[in-house]
Amino acid sequence: MEKFEISCREEAMNGRNTFADDLLRWYAQEARDLPWRRRSSPYSVLVSEFMLQQTQVATVIPYFTRWMERFPDFESLAAADEEEVLRLWEGLGYYRRARSLHAIALLVAGPLGGALPDDYDSLLQLPGVGPYTAGALASLAFNRPEAALDGNVERLMTRLLDIAEIPGPALREDLRRRITAAIPPGRARDFNQALMELGALVCLPRNPLCLSCPLKGHCLALARGTAAERPLRRLRPPVETVRALALLVTDGDRFLLLRHRDGERWQGLWEFPTFDGDEESVAADLQLDRTAWKKAGSVRHSFTRYRREISAFSLAVGLSLPLPGTEDREARWVAREELGDYPLSAGSRKIREGLIAPAEGESSVDGGRGKA
Ligand code: ADE
Repeated sequence: MEKFEISCREEAMNGRNTFADDLLRWYAQEARDLPWRRRSSPYSVLVSEFMLQQTQVATVIPYFTRWMERFPDFESLAAADEEEVLRLWEGLGYYRRARSLHAIALLVAGPLGGALPDDYDSLLQLPGVGPYTAGALASLAFNRPEAALDGNVERLMTRLLDIAEIPGPALREDLRRRITAAIPPGRARDFNQALMELGALVCLPRNPLCLSCPLKGHCLALARGTAAERPLRRLRPPVETVRALALLVTDGDRFLLLRHRDGERWQGLWEFPTFDGDEESVAADLQLDRTAWKKAGSVRHSFTRYRREISAFSLAVGLSLPLPGTEDREARWVAREELGDYPLSAGSRKIREGLIAPAEGESSVDGGRGKA
């Protein structure tokens, strides 16, 4: 762990921070041209940081661009209704992020008096903002000397310092302290983005590109040949497959959608009625006659450590509604060409995109999303 601090001490002794110089020089040459780096404002940093939590840059780019066109500032986002906000987020997953962004816009437009706070502790109080995002906002939006320790930076740091410890809260706190101490005066924004960029492009999880790394002269794991083993990881629990069944209940050209309950994982999103279990158990639970169902296909999606396999069955209405167990859920009959206007949870979105033929005159199922 010593070396990183030694380079900082060198700085104090001879006025040079060779670690930061090497990093910033590399970043100036190699930084990707990303849309949120072009015309950056506290709002655009906030939106991009929320989208980039748990999500790859390439996935985020089109969402970010669409979002900034529709909601260019806090005021426009605060004025939107939640359904539209969720619809624009649809497909990015982890929808709590969208709801938190909306809540922050309402705070900024109201009690916060028009602007985000600019210090770490106040940022940490905002909905959906944890230590990483508070540090990223303070440094990227306001150039404050705070660390922004995401997974990429954590990996880079455990290699740089050759840390043979499974990362936990104490180690993260220690890394934050070391990063903060290494930020050259006035350079927090570039320094943190450079660390993130190096983690994303060079210090890769598998097969890091050590020979082209600007920090190779500073990296203890490289010197000791342990880079591939850093960071140490706990064994992951095995993936569990769960089966579910979705009913595509139609009444003419309209489909039955149910809204997820508040407090559920997909709160606020809609779905084709979906039930855990196989054909037999779901038919028994719902007291439905299986001969009326027609298999439409199946889809898969993963969340946390589960893989959900959903078989979809079509049936024309004729069953008694509400379906047992769904009495307290909002239900709506939605025309085929309007399905794209509803934010759907992951499984139902895949059903809409893969198993439901577009309405006449639409080039694809998504062609109906004119309102988004
Ligand atoms: N991941 C998190 N924040 C990022 C940023 N500003 N640029 C690229 N990747 C990121």
